[in-house]
Amino acid sequence: LQFVESDNLGLEHVAFALATPEDVDSAAKHLVNMGVDLISEPHRSDDLGGGYRLTFNDPEGRCIMLAALLEAVAPRSEISNQPIQLSHVVFNTVDINAAVEFWTQVVGLRVSDWSENQMAFLRCNNRHHSVAFNQAEWTSVNHIAYDFRDTDAFFQRLGVLRHLGFVPIWGPGRHGPGNNAFAYFGDPVGYVPEVTTGLIDVEESNWVPRVWQRVPEQSDLWGTAGPPSDDARARMAGSPEPTVRSAGGT
Ligand SMILES: [Fe+2]
Repeated sequence: LQFVESDNLGLEHVAFALATPEDVDSAAKHLVNMGVDLISEPHRSDDLGGGYRLTFNDPEGRCIMLAALLEAVAPRSEISNQPIQLSHVVFNTVDINAAVEFWTQVVGLRVSDWSENQMAFLRCNNRHHSVAFNQAEWTSVNHIAYDFRDTDAFFQRLGVLRHLGFVPIWGPGRHGPGNNAFAYFGDPVGYVPEVTTGLIDVEESNWVPRVWQRVPEQSDLWGTAGPPSDDARARMAGSPEPTVRSAGGT
């Protein structure tokens, strides 16, 4: 995760790791064949994390990076009450069907589940979702989720946050799609970080996407969260982002 100083809230870019530089080159060919204009052709980067990368925009102007050979840091799984990895990011989209079509057909993600026609959950590996889209009035970041080792670590972090003066704007609870425990917070800048754990893995060979109903029994499995408040909804609506940008990772 990289924070970049800016006058606006929003996504600078979202990056996916590919196995080899050759995969980045073949992704470039695929993207060009699909009619995508690359922002940057595959190249070795001196930017933070290094690696061999390319960037391009989706139809709403989100910058996507595909990269190999990024510099890695040691896993943090032994630290009990700190996040061990990014879990997922949810984007607000003005056209969920167009977003899902592009991110499956062009970017190559797969649909894991839908929440009626309101949300779509997409995976790039066997984790249920790394990206999800939420139908909304404008293009923006809905929330970013940080993964904790287990339910104990999840609640320990909620305890730490409570002592720091932060109580969830929604949750704790457990979602239907993905089956992950959730607690959403409003940070001082305007983003919505989610503390999460327990996101399920998908077995690729026999997973059949389903459409979840937006009813309490399916969206709040523990019955602890209730519906999100107006404040939570407003924060998750995010700040409108320009739909055409040339930003993003050189
Ligand atoms: Fe989430």
